[in-house]
Amino acid sequence: MTDNKSDVLGEDKISPNRLKSYTTDNRVVHKAKDEDIIQKIGNVLGQKFFDYRKEWDAANRFEIVTEFPLFLQLDMFQVCNYSCPHCNIANPKTLLKAYNGKIETKMDFEKYKRIVDEGSDYNCPSIEPQGVNEPLLIKDFHKYVRYAYDKGFMDIMINTNASALTPKRSQQLLDSGITRLRFSLDAATPETYKKVRVGSRPLDQVIKNIETFLELKEKGNYKLPVTGVSMCVLKGNQHEKQMFEDFWIDKVDMVTFQAFQPPNFEEDFKDFYPDMDSSHFKESKPEYRCPQPFHRVVIRNDLITPCCATCSNELPLGHIKDGVHKAWHSPLAKKLREIHRIGKYYDNAVCKKCIESTL
Ligand SMILES: C[S@@+](CC[C@H](N)C(=O)[O-])C[C@H]1O[C@@H](n2cnc3c(N)ncnc32)[C@H](O)[C@@H]1O
Ligand code: SF4
Ligand code: SF4
Repeated sequence: MTDNKSDVLGEDKISPNRLKSYTTDNRVVHKAKDEDIIQKIGNVLGQKFFDYRKEWDAANRFEIVTEFPLFLQLDMFQVCNYSCPHCNIANPKTLLKAYNGKIETKMDFEKYKRIVDEGSDYNCPSIEPQGVNEPLLIKDFHKYVRYAYDKGFMDIMINTNASALTPKRSQQLLDSGITRLRFSLDAATPETYKKVRVGSRPLDQVIKNIETFLELKEKGNYKLPVTGVSMCVLKGNQHEKQMFEDFWIDKVDMVTFQAFQPPNFEEDFKDFYPDMDSSHFKESKPEYRCPQPFHRVVIRNDLITPCCATCSNELPLGHIKDGVHKAWHSPLAKKLREIHRIGKYYDNAVCKKCIESTL
């Protein structure tokens, strides 16, 4: 559920810090104190990065369809050491259904390489080698990142719960070529953290891991990755939004709030939804147009899908044995782009239930 952000929403009226807010799709809102992180990364990577972001913005505005997706999201194993109740990981039945009955436990490096190689052939600029899982459970995860970097991907991002972020792993990541690193915390206090991140390490240990990473980055004078922390806004943590923002805003490059999406549509998740006032998504729902089929594919084990929604396996674009390019130009991919371009999400039953269940 990482999001490749862009459009400026405006200056935050509530925050005393006068933060800027950014979003790509209104489901994920990023707040930053100074420079837009796109500007920050571009200042390091140069014009080619700004060129890719220009294309991204045009795709995100439904104006262009690129030859190959601009963003590959590889959800290639489904294991985590936490069991957050709002996540698919804590809902085994849902998880199995979302992955068509087959859960992977290890991201196969050879398979990964083949996908990255195809992306590289098309000069694909961005990749997230992570999905519904904890990426740092793979001991040599930095090698996966490095492979993509060596193959020319310039924008490489992951989310992590930071529980396994030892100083050694931090150093490996700093040297891997990763561009954006986001730590998901979902809470500002230990009590709430324990409740929303079931099975977690103590919050103070995780904060220490993150602070050590930030110290190593500063001492080594690394310009990248840009860093962030995130909160999936839920009924159980909404009261800590401001505290969370205040604690982190001077430490990392951005603070992200993301809308809750129910792990499935059959069960009742009403106790998870935040109050309407805490939602940033409700206002835009009636005319919502989803940009994901315009910029990405999400690869779930062997299946290629158009988006990161839990139900995206119900929108199969293709199989990895036939390659990403073919899936990107499949009749379903084209149809999805068309209905979202003209603002008729309800013409697809899966998109309809996805959008209408997300606050
Ligand atoms: C699925 S996790 C994977 C990476 C890593 N394990 C972590 O927690 O950062 C990525 C992000 O998705 C968020 N998330 C999990 N379930 C969600 C849901 N039902 N709706 C919206 N965001 C969700 C998490 O809070 C986290 O920020
Ligand atoms: S840490 Fe991440 S992947 Fe693991 S259960 Fe929580 S949200 Fe899901
Ligand atoms: S199901 Fe449809 S609306 Fe939902 S994220 Fe996927 S493409 Fe977008």
